[in-house]
Amino acid sequence: MSGKVYLYPIWIRLWHVTNALLCLILIISGISMHYASPDATRIRFDLAVSMHNISGILLTLSYLIFFFGNLFTGNGSHYLIQFKGFRKRLWKQMYYYTIGVFKKEEAPFPIGSARKFNPLQQVTYAVVMYFFLPMLFATGWALLFPGIIVEEWLGINGFAATDFLHILGGFIVSVFLLIHLYFATMGKKPADHYKAMLTGYHEDESEPESRQ
Ligand code: HEM
Ligand code: HEM
Repeated sequence: MSGKVYLYPIWIRLWHVTNALLCLILIISGISMHYASPDATRIRFDLAVSMHNISGILLTLSYLIFFFGNLFTGNGSHYLIQFKGFRKRLWKQMYYYTIGVFKKEEAPFPIGSARKFNPLQQVTYAVVMYFFLPMLFATGWALLFPGIIVEEWLGINGFAATDFLHILGGFIVSVFLLIHLYFATMGKKPADHYKAMLTGYHEDESEPESRQ
């Protein structure tokens, strides 16, 4: 037993649970609006629109906690990818998730205070949090205030393009969420990562020499 390490400070945990709940509401209301039809029995259309708009605004506000929290605390360093040798490390992690884990091999990037994300988590968290969520905010706010959308650009209808990018972003976040929930069960024990996100503490799995 190598002790515990405090990986998820309280502000990350509060942001994360808010973010998770709002994303779930946005996905459900978004899908409901997307497949709405006059005889549909899903969420009432005006209700889905209100749920979506309010959650979208709250998600944008909660993102500020994540953005500035990462900017002004050490948590942001976990999102900085060291590009040298990154592809190799990514393959190693993918091999572990697809083959190694089923052969009961050791995780190639054990969690510790110096590293809380494996390379696959690092790249997906960075891309979702710093590309796809901002894209959803930009297109979502534009759909809230359609007056700001350019009518036509290079022959493309601005509103249709904004709507398309918004749906694409929503689809990517939904797929991310499914994969995220599954990979989060791949700790030493299936509930380990979930417990860590609740308590803030994770078992220190790192090699003794890399511990701080
Ligand atoms: C996880 C995040 C989100 C998902 C999965 C999502 C998904 C969707 C989907 C599927 C639609 C229906 C589009 C269509 O069928 O044409 C939609 C519409 C819309 N979304 Fe989002 N969205 C998200 C975040 C946001 C945010 C952050 C905002 C605003 C700040 C926003 C504002 C809107 C608006 C204004 C519409 C048009 C319908 C309406 O008036 O409510 N969305 N969204
Ligand atoms: C029901 C919904 C969700 C559950 C149960 C959940 C669960 C977890 C768990 C257990 C962790 C810690 C272990 C790990 O890193 O794998 C985590 C971390 C994280 N999750 Fe989620 N998650 C949910 C939704 C989301 C959504 C919707 C997003 C983004 C759109 C997200 C983004 C993240 C990020 C960025 C981290 C790392 C935070 C940090 O320590 O800096 N999660 N999640």
